[in-house]
Amino acid sequence: MEIEFDALAPLQRYKILASLVVPRPIALICTVGENGIVNAAPFSFFNALGEDPAIVIFSADSRASGAAKDTVRNALATGEFVVNLVDEAIAEKMHGCAVDVPPEMSEIDLVGFTTTPSRRVRPPRIAQSPVSFECRLHTHLDFNTRHLCIGEVVWAHVREGILDPATLRRLPGTYRPIGRLYANRYCTTADEFELDNGGYAAKANAQSAIKKF
Ligand SMILES: Cc1cc2nc3c(=O)[nH]c(=O)nc-3n(C[C@H](O)[C@H](O)[C@H](O)COP(=O)(O)O)c2cc1C
Repeated sequence: MEIEFDALAPLQRYKILASLVVPRPIALICTVGENGIVNAAPFSFFNALGEDPAIVIFSADSRASGAAKDTVRNALATGEFVVNLVDEAIAEKMHGCAVDVPPEMSEIDLVGFTTTPSRRVRPPRIAQSPVSFECRLHTHLDFNTRHLCIGEVVWAHVREGILDPATLRRLPGTYRPIGRLYANRYCTTADEFELDNGGYAAKANAQSAIKKF
């Protein structure tokens, strides 16, 4: 199938991108509204894309009315948000946080999460999440109906036992994030495998030795 991508309608492009660029990590984002109520919503157009500064990005579509989603409105108004990562244990509650609730109601109460105060920003983190990143809004870009929010991570909470303090790598079997496929479909990270480039490195060495000769 060959697709003239720039001739498609935005919704068609969305469906193709969202079902093929998978699995996507999920950011369950906490923000605080003008009324002081904590908002939580999942975003899978999300990733970590830099370390100096430490950059995370999420993108939120607008509502059918054209209004920005609460997460974007709050992040722009306060300049702060918290990214909570999602494992199997909190998958079902995370999915519940996507329900459209009025700004005077918190998704956190609806699904039964609890929150813990953050260190550097006002929005709290989700206590049940294995990893949370406190972020300050760095840049906001407006693409038609999409808002791209770029945040700088200023503090990280990682549940004890997940990271090896010596290597700062994840310890095997300690963290089971889920990925988003499309619509209400998800996958686990239960199957990991390792690759070794030794064979290709040897082939490259042999070929460059032949060229030099
Ligand atoms: C797993 C998952 C991922 C989602 N990813 C996005 C996304 O990347 N961008 C987006 O605009 N909406 C996304 N949504 C939908 C929002 O979570 C939903 O519109 C939510 O009600 C927004 O809440 P808010 O108005 O409180 O910000 C996703 C929903 C789910 C369940």
